[in-house]
Amino acid sequence: MDSLKFSTVLLSLLSLAIITQAQDPTYLYSNCPNKTTFTRNSTYQANLNLLLSSLSSNATRNNINGFYNVSAGQDPDAVYGMFLCRGDVSNSVCRNCVNFAGKDILERCPIEKVAMIWFDECELRYSNRNIFSTVDQDFTLFMMSPNNVTVQPDRFNQLVATTINDIATRAASAPSGGKKFAVQQVNYTGIQKLYTLVQCTADLSTPDCSRCLEGAISKLGNCYKAVDDT
Ligand SMILES: *[C@@H]1O[C@H](CO)[C@@H](O)[C@H](O)[C@H]1NC(C)=O
Ligand SMILES: *[C@@H]1O[C@H](CO)[C@@H](O)[C@H](O)[C@H]1NC(C)=O
Ligand SMILES: *[C@@H]1O[C@H](CO)[C@@H](O)[C@H](O)[C@H]1NC(C)=O
Ligand SMILES: *[C@@H]1O[C@H](CO)[C@@H](O)[C@H](O)[C@H]1NC(C)=O
Ligand SMILES: *[C@@H]1O[C@H](CO)[C@@H](O)[C@H](O)[C@H]1NC(C)=O
Ligand SMILES: *[C@@H]1O[C@H](CO)[C@@H](O)[C@H](O)[C@H]1NC(C)=O
Repeated sequence: MDSLKFSTVLLSLLSLAIITQAQDPTYLYSNCPNKTTFTRNSTYQANLNLLLSSLSSNATRNNINGFYNVSAGQDPDAVYGMFLCRGDVSNSVCRNCVNFAGKDILERCPIEKVAMIWFDECELRYSNRNIFSTVDQDFTLFMMSPNNVTVQPDRFNQLVATTINDIATRAASAPSGGKKFAVQQVNYTGIQKLYTLVQCTADLSTPDCSRCLEGAISKLGNCYKAVDDT
């Protein structure tokens, strides 16, 4: 009986160890146009490796608000990069995601000078041009849920519009260098809630963050206006 108890305890300990082990972050998308590429073993590649290791190591720091930007090397081989962790993830989830992203992006974008990768928990990007403190709206990614809104679609659209504009203002007005992040959940039907989240990188000014979110929100309208009115 004793040995049975022992193995039960051991089994629980083992499953606990498996559960607490760091999970890979949830991959969403990556984008790396192959218009500008580098050759293997070039100075650009060396600078990129330096950049990625400095992003990774800085993600272990606790006082960065989930954001860091850094450059490596000199023009014409300079690389500019940054990461942003979702505003509501822990430091350890952030660190794990940035570390994973730095390796994964090189597998998905092995020779491209400009690359971005998104996970649910963080995003990481780099470029051969200075991308700091500037709004970049060249690339827009829509990811739509396969589920249609079937109950009160007008009310749903109205609720999305008011809620998301509200949190956009809140996120943008965060102090300089702070987390530009806001969430809100509101009742949609008696049993369903609407969850909203917006975030800018911490290097953007309040007006730039506002402008960027307003642009994204106006494009979002195209998604949910497509919803069937039934
Ligand atoms: C660049 O991408 C295009 C389209 O994805 C592809 O057809 C082309 O072969 C790629 N070029 C190189 C050099 O990888
Ligand atoms: C890159 O450098 C490594 C180590 O110096 C070498 O083994 C490899 O052959 C080089 N690759 C290319 C494509 O030059
Ligand atoms: C952070 O990045 C800087 C370069 O910006 C680098 O000098 C430093 O070693 C990195 N790591 C930590 C833990 O600060
Ligand atoms: C991060 O970007 C700002 C400009 O927005 C720049 O002044 C600063 O030097 C950058 N940080 C690093 C470590 O390069
Ligand atoms: C959602 O609506 C579209 C357009 O009416 C339809 O093609 C699609 O099959 C619907 N999806 C689901 C999951 O019902
Ligand atoms: C949302 O719905 C829950 C459960 O139906 C209710 O308890 C709560 O008061 C509602 N909140 C608002 C802001 O209406």
